[in-house]
Amino acid sequence: MMAKTFTIAIDGPAASGKGTLARRLAAHYGFHHLDTGLTYRAVAKALIDRGLPLDNEAIAAEMAQNLDLKHLDRKALATHDVGEAASKVAIMPAVRRALVAAQRAFAQTLPGTVLDGRDIGTVVCPDAPVKLYVTASAQARAKRRHAEILAGDGEADLAAILADLERRDARDMGRTDSPLKPADDAHLLDTTEMDIETAFLAAKRLVDEALAKS
Ligand code: DC
Repeated sequence: MMAKTFTIAIDGPAASGKGTLARRLAAHYGFHHLDTGLTYRAVAKALIDRGLPLDNEAIAAEMAQNLDLKHLDRKALATHDVGEAASKVAIMPAVRRALVAAQRAFAQTLPGTVLDGRDIGTVVCPDAPVKLYVTASAQARAKRRHAEILAGDGEADLAAILADLERRDARDMGRTDSPLKPADDAHLLDTTEMDIETAFLAAKRLVDEALAKS
């Protein structure tokens, strides 16, 4: 019999804590982790670096088809401008098709995988045995991002961060192709009043239950 992998699908808006949770779960279970936001960011950065337009679907899709998931440089992709550009290329169906194919191939890796993004439970891995939808109020997410920037010695304006997050949410939730929304069978994890340890323990309980059944 062919060995079967086990996938944990995590979705949620920007700065909800889903990335930290995904990394903690992957480390705990010894699973491979893919932050799918980085794939959209990599396409955007490839266009920016080559001076190519951000609104040409055919060109962006070609970049997406040639993307190598093994060489995603988190640090180079973390900038605000790349994130902004990523949310523009993420509305293009041809870009999504190419990236979803690569993400699905990654999801098959043994012994298990954790993918986080916006459409993992709904589109990329609809059959994942565990789906988590991590959310928090926009105010709480803005405060976290603000604290992160200050901790990194940067300068940040809370009101501007909040406005930016709300704009990003509207774009991610309002697009026609694969909008951000919880899968029908996702477990909701609202981290507004929860620290990462509590969120991790809640998620771990759900994963342990699903692993016992698999
Ligand atoms: O999570 P992030 O900020 O790195 O994501 C960058 C952009 O990519 C964001 O605007 C939404 C988009 N994205 C997506 O459409 N689908 C995913 N699975 C992951 C990210």
